Amino acid sequence: MFIKVLYILPLLLVSAVGAPGNENGETGYKGKWELVSQNSGVSAMHAILLPKVNKVLMYDATIWRISKFPLPPQKMPCHMVDPVNKIQDCWCHSVLFDIETSELKALKIETDTWCSSGGLTVDGNLVSTGGYRGGANTARYLSTCDNCDWKEYPTALADPRWYATQVTLPDGGFIVVGGRDAFSYEYIPLEGQSNKKAVFLPFLRDTSDNINLGKQNFFRLENNLYPFVHLAPDGNLFIFANNRSILFNPVDNKVVRELPVLPGGSRNYPASGMSVLLPIKLYVENAKQISADVLVCGGAQWDAFYFAETKKQLLPALKDCGRISLMKKNAAWKKEVMPSARVMGDMTILPTGDVLMINGAKTGTSAWGDAEQPNLVPVLYKSKEKKGTRFQELAAGTIPRMYHSSSVLLPDGKVLVAGSNTHDGYKYDVKYPTELRVEKFSPPYLDPSLATLRQEIMVETTDKIINYGKRFRVNVRSNELKLRKNNDLKITMYAPAFTTHGISMNQRLLMLGLVDVINNVWPGIHSIVVAAPPSGKVAPPGYYLLHVVYKGVPSVAMWIQIK
Ligand SMILES: *[C@@H]1O[C@H](CO)[C@@H](O)[C@H](O)[C@H]1NC(C)=O
Repeated sequence: MFIKVLYILPLLLVSAVGAPGNENGETGYKGKWELVSQNSGVSAMHAILLPKVNKVLMYDATIWRISKFPLPPQKMPCHMVDPVNKIQDCWCHSVLFDIETSELKALKIETDTWCSSGGLTVDGNLVSTGGYRGGANTARYLSTCDNCDWKEYPTALADPRWYATQVTLPDGGFIVVGGRDAFSYEYIPLEGQSNKKAVFLPFLRDTSDNINLGKQNFFRLENNLYPFVHLAPDGNLFIFANNRSILFNPVDNKVVRELPVLPGGSRNYPASGMSVLLPIKLYVENAKQISADVLVCGGAQWDAFYFAETKKQLLPALKDCGRISLMKKNAAWKKEVMPSARVMGDMTILPTGDVLMINGAKTGTSAWGDAEQPNLVPVLYKSKEKKGTRFQELAAGTIPRMYHSSSVLLPDGKVLVAGSNTHDGYKYDVKYPTELRVEKFSPPYLDPSLATLRQEIMVETTDKIINYGKRFRVNVRSNELKLRKNNDLKITMYAPAFTTHGISMNQRLLMLGLVDVINNVWPGIHSIVVAAPPSGKVAPPGYYLLHVVYKGVPSVAMWIQIK
């Protein structure tokens, strides 16, 4: 009894001065923002964390022929845009941003990546598709070696892919879906080859909105660009556009079934809502069917873009979410309401399995100058909590991150936030200037008073390449005398997302099945035996960030490759 009182007393005292965390991982900490760079060189319209090198690749578009980072001498000569009129472009449009030092490394790109798509190969190299004009049918490759630069194949794709979505398939290949005036999909051919024909997908035509202004006059709203596409654990693709969704089998190219409509407004570009495949929970022995939930949040009323473009009237963004269990026979949307409205936001899955909603605006839509009221307050969505208690508002940022902003989960559990440019070019003397500042946001689990709960992965002695269905070991150095195989301990694998325009392509988090914990294999070092994901349908081959999460606090990640 006496001991108990002593133990509770200091907790009560400190909780009065700002509720720090305790040994159960509970915390009242709302997170923290840090400014880590004044100049990312290019405004980060597209961003992805590259495996192994721990650099974030950022790029915007070549169309403006300007950025804040001149091409360095070793990248000369300048890119000749128009040989007839001798117009050249001497600026970088893509950079590698070092997440430790914020240093920039120049890359040189020629085809226009404006509103393009991307994903990582099994070996952790980037494949980028589409973009604008000369870039629209392009496939580009970027390896991470020291002197590597872009390789570009402008005729790889059959249809132009401007605002399309690229998704990794169970065999490590890619499908590209949709884009402006491209009601079709195609598989990315082998490097250097070209597709002859794309496959028409009526669903994309049928979800494209117009307003009939009479006399054969149509205002093009679309609301179905950058469709949300998630690979379900049975190998089917969930494709969501506007307010409708289908399950599509990419092996025999058939629509398996259509899911119910999600009412409440439009969710895809320019109505730009956000979507994630919620964490997939795996077991040592998996049931035949692994369940998978999708969350779709925010966006805009179906005609909001019309009001923004033609009347400069900015309608309130959507405040609701829909959540659906894909594998259920009678799958139905369940509605939830966010603490604030959000259009053009990002959803980043954290190593714990919670989802961070960040960036965006409270009114308007995507496109130049079509939004106001930046939403500066990130929201945590705790997917495992009971409905009604899942949302938590976190520490507000100060820099508006609206159109063309991005966010990236880093190995240490922070979230890098960059970009925002609501202008046709680089503009600084305006209300929302072209944003080149880079920040890191620390979620609540980085509360300094929880630091002793952080496990340290012993990278040297932990398996770095794992195989489907096999067991492997993760060794951790711990402050705990013992770790137990219970709900306090989670091993998660996160596939780095390609983030642009509020969509995070290929983002997925797997919670692995725990087989055993062998304590004190060396003094203070525990060995956790886990089951690797069963197949490429559940976890496409490639690099993942592996985190050990203890009482809600993630370790620093290590890279592992599954194949
Ligand atoms: C779905 O979106 C279409 C096109 O914007 C709209 O006409 C329809 O009313 C919406 N359906 C529901 C149930 O909200």
